[in-house]
Amino acid sequence: MSERAVDYTLPALDGSERIARAWARVPAVPSPAERAALMARAAELLRANDAVLVAHFYVDGDIQDLALETGGCVADSLEMARFGRDHPASTLVVAGVRFMGETAAILSPGKRVLMPDLDATCSLDLGCPPDEFAAFCDANPDRTVVVYANTSAAVKARADWMVTSSIALAIVRHLAARGERILWAPDRHLGGYIARETGADMLLWNGACVVHEEFKGLELELLRAEHPDALVVVHPESPEAVVAQADVVGSTSQLLKAVIEGDAPEYIVATDNGIFHRMRQLAPGKTLIEAPTAGAGATCKSCAHCPWMAMNAVAGVIDCLERGSGEITVPEPVRTRALVPVERMLAFAAAHPESIVAAYRGHVPHLGSA
Ligand code: 13P
Ligand code: SF4
Repeated sequence: MSERAVDYTLPALDGSERIARAWARVPAVPSPAERAALMARAAELLRANDAVLVAHFYVDGDIQDLALETGGCVADSLEMARFGRDHPASTLVVAGVRFMGETAAILSPGKRVLMPDLDATCSLDLGCPPDEFAAFCDANPDRTVVVYANTSAAVKARADWMVTSSIALAIVRHLAARGERILWAPDRHLGGYIARETGADMLLWNGACVVHEEFKGLELELLRAEHPDALVVVHPESPEAVVAQADVVGSTSQLLKAVIEGDAPEYIVATDNGIFHRMRQLAPGKTLIEAPTAGAGATCKSCAHCPWMAMNAVAGVIDCLERGSGEITVPEPVRTRALVPVERMLAFAAAHPESIVAAYRGHVPHLGSA
């Protein structure tokens, strides 16, 4: 297994930012013969360990297939949280990035939560250190603290609400209607999008996603000119110039829904290309085109694939089940405090199922089901 460097934005409290360097492991790619054996072994271990696989749309296609073949789920962050909480299995194997495992552990203290690779992180999480964030909150005590799911448990423990991209607009709109002013962290692009859409008074942390930040407005304009009939679907972690050109802006499940239901023959997709696996399965015959990236750093330059989501491999699923490795634990005082904003979001989602635009029933397992 090799490693690669990943540069990300590390904001400071005074509004400045610097580029910091992290790393990601690059898993070995199995041969076709090894692949079948790995899939069979992982399925057997999931059964033997009373475990269920909870996977994100961005992870390796084999893991997505394995999850669906073994009764698990492939979903966005909101649905992963709900599925893990509600599933009776005693072990959850969370294939995604660390904050997703932590959210599962926050919601299910009685379950063992394992991850194929515990070092799979997220630039938004890295770019929002708990101490600096606490100082930001302390300096703005009159604001309601709303954090994105892509944060550590310690950051969630300082929040009033947690949101995912599926439900962020509805919750902030609800808070703004009550006259609340918002402190938002960590993604500046998602925060800016929500502020523009809702008109809410939002003070933004300055973080960014290394994948979505690299989608570029000018290159997208040129690509759209070549494909005038294509529908443009964009995740709101993307920069404003990209979001401004979107026909559909939404969470991963909302973008998937847009491609399945859309009547256009072509789709320009501005999100991690791991989602193409499920899009191809559920919308065969549609042409999917990656939105252009033009990164300047050693991040995910022109690959549109999250280096940390890419750390998830079927071999890692086997490893964590065989050895009990990759176990996520959250200290109990942090967990109980972080549970408050997470449960608030889930209670809001249950009370307002219509607010999750992606509520897509019938065709896609575990996609926005209440
Ligand atoms: P979703 O909640 O839309 O799946 O997004 C998670 C994420 O990390 C996007 O980069
Ligand atoms: Fe984080 Fe971006 Fe990776 Fe999503 S795609 S997990 S926001 S770094």
